Amino acid sequence: MSRAIVSCSPWFADAALYELRRFLPDVSFVDQPAPGILLIEFPFSFDKLTLPWRHKLPIYLHHAFPVHHITALQNNPADLPRLCHLIRTFAPPDAILQVRSTVEDVLRFSAADVHHVIAPDQPLYPSHPPAGRVLSILLTGSSAALTAYVGISWASQNLSPFTGGQMPFTQPVSNRAGFKLLEALAAFEIRLHKGTRVLDLGAAPGAWTTLLRQRGMHVTAVAPKPLYPWLMVDPGVEIQPMLAETYLERCATTFDLIVNDMILEGQESARLMVEYAEHLKNGGIAIMTLKLHKHNRQKIMDHAMRLLRKAYKIIRVRQLVSNRREVTLFLRRKE
Ligand SMILES: C[S@@+](CC[C@H](N)C(=O)[O-])C[C@H]1O[C@@H](n2cnc3c(N)ncnc32)[C@H](O)[C@@H]1O
Repeated sequence: MSRAIVSCSPWFADAALYELRRFLPDVSFVDQPAPGILLIEFPFSFDKLTLPWRHKLPIYLHHAFPVHHITALQNNPADLPRLCHLIRTFAPPDAILQVRSTVEDVLRFSAADVHHVIAPDQPLYPSHPPAGRVLSILLTGSSAALTAYVGISWASQNLSPFTGGQMPFTQPVSNRAGFKLLEALAAFEIRLHKGTRVLDLGAAPGAWTTLLRQRGMHVTAVAPKPLYPWLMVDPGVEIQPMLAETYLERCATTFDLIVNDMILEGQESARLMVEYAEHLKNGGIAIMTLKLHKHNRQKIMDHAMRLLRKAYKIIRVRQLVSNRREVTLFLRRKE
């Protein structure tokens, strides 16, 4: 039997497991050592496990790595040379090290310490995603029962080349929502062009509008709540201080891009997007977060998709690492 650790949002662990089993029914769940971290086993190679998503990422799975060793640690500094010794027995010296810990608060050493001891010459935060072999170490459990899951694979096999699927962003953002837009642009490979006219629905407080302005776009920000002060005085931002439902009746512009991060029930948000499609140019694109706060989220998602298909081609759906109880959709208006 092969084993792997797969990562997903703690809120979507059941959906991630379902997604795996739909393609690979022989996958068995073994344990959830931490929220959103699943240990699974399967009667085939790790390469086959992630093959279905090599060219198109799944919705809920963020990252996977094979588990070749599971080692109990003592939570003391003697763990470090022991880990080092274990790794020398099977990992090639040129493997890129990725260490992750779900127990930083109880560990008597940090993930960075492990990194420093095992691969002192490798940067902790590499500027480029690794392309070769990756040595993954996950430290998890509790202070009394600390465990290291260790495995070696090719970066291309892990669903994401980044540690735990977390893209490293260096650009500052005004609030956490900003990471959602940065991650969506990277995950969906969307190139934005200067001068593009963007409609930002539910723009307040304004991280998305700020990022779009930094890329030279003209933004119409529909926001019943106040926006950041720098946006209030920016001539490239047209503020519409009202609900999206109200602006729909007044809108006379055609946009190149619509973004929507409104905290609205999934179907309601989808319904509004369909109505706004007539203000999006033919073939124009949209990025929206679909909120899935309720228990019946699969039903909400299916219903929202059915609505959206009236006006859009759904290009991608991804539960991004920076999403909370939501997924992000990349849409293109039907011609
Ligand atoms: C998650 S916040 C958006 C954060 C924003 N993307 C940013 O970058 O700062 C959700 C926003 O949706 C707004 N909102 C909720 N319902 C709305 C509606 N019907 N019309 C317009 N905005 C709405 C809320 O006022 C709130 O500002």
